[in-house]
Amino acid sequence: MEKKPTVLSGIRPTGNLHLGNYFGAVKNFVKMQETNDCYFFIADYHMLTTHPNPKDLQGNVRQVIIEYLAAGLDPEKATLYLQSDIPETAELYLFLNMNAYMGELERVTTFKEKARKQPDNINAGLLTYPTLMAADIIIQRAHLVPVGKDQEQNLEMTRTFARRFNRMYKVDYFPIPKAYNFNDELVKIPGLDGSGKMGKSEGEGNAIFLNEDPKMIHKKVMRAVTDSGPTEMNQQKPEPIQNLFELMKVVSKPDVIEHFNDQYNNCTIRYGDLKKQLAEDIIAFTAPFYERIKELSSNEDYITKVINMGAEKARENAVKTIRDVREIIGFRKIY
Ligand code: TRP
Repeated sequence: MEKKPTVLSGIRPTGNLHLGNYFGAVKNFVKMQETNDCYFFIADYHMLTTHPNPKDLQGNVRQVIIEYLAAGLDPEKATLYLQSDIPETAELYLFLNMNAYMGELERVTTFKEKARKQPDNINAGLLTYPTLMAADIIIQRAHLVPVGKDQEQNLEMTRTFARRFNRMYKVDYFPIPKAYNFNDELVKIPGLDGSGKMGKSEGEGNAIFLNEDPKMIHKKVMRAVTDSGPTEMNQQKPEPIQNLFELMKVVSKPDVIEHFNDQYNNCTIRYGDLKKQLAEDIIAFTAPFYERIKELSSNEDYITKVINMGAEKARENAVKTIRDVREIIGFRKIY
């Protein structure tokens, strides 16, 4: 039987999961774990580029694990682990850095953006972010990397570094990973502030989180941006209204959507009613996640067990790679 491609993706631990994250990425991870050998990790080494407080680090990382488990990742099916539990990644990162050039690293868009955003902290880790990301990917010899558009250039760098290693040592060792685009399966979730997609950096009230209290969801939805209502039959919906209908598409029943759509088209719609319904449907949708997050949060031993299990499996595979790589480079066998 042909081996299924290995899938790997890194998760930035930057706060709680919202509906945009869920429909944009996590839901697809949950699906992929059924059919592929999947590795998903929390990118906590990468987080050091912004110098987080040691007191917050563990808690934040565990919270992300809890939310991904609540969202449906199954530690028996996918390998779920912390980047920093695989120190072999740092060794491979060192090797890759020897063949990564200043010029190519400086040209990376995400580097330029971060340098602009934190001019007082343009550290070497920021510059070499793509070599660490490459190490994450190729240490598990992954084939497919589900990432958003913003990460495609970083992934192209990974391909370059993997090819360069193979060429330099005249080996056919690392698979050249491909970006995996969800395309059709990708659902863009708009925010509640009238324009653009859901995101936590767009300000309070724009995003709805999987662990959001029902009362808060109600409040946020009732405050969502609308307009003064349709004035002509069958007129096109402006963006803020279209956004509310888009949200309904993922949480409400088709006949409910049709009902409000008809009301919009004959100008009898009351946005208050629509929002009330939308809030109810979002609450019904998020309730099981909310409950599971609560349950998992009170089960510290289980979370530790999951993290240990993932570390063990991911590490076993990483040690295999680093052992080969050291041999290819010409170092002594130590692992
Ligand atoms: N750079 C990714 C992001 O910002 C996170 C990440 C780190 C990653 N290492 C990775 C993604 C390896 C895919 C594969 O979202």
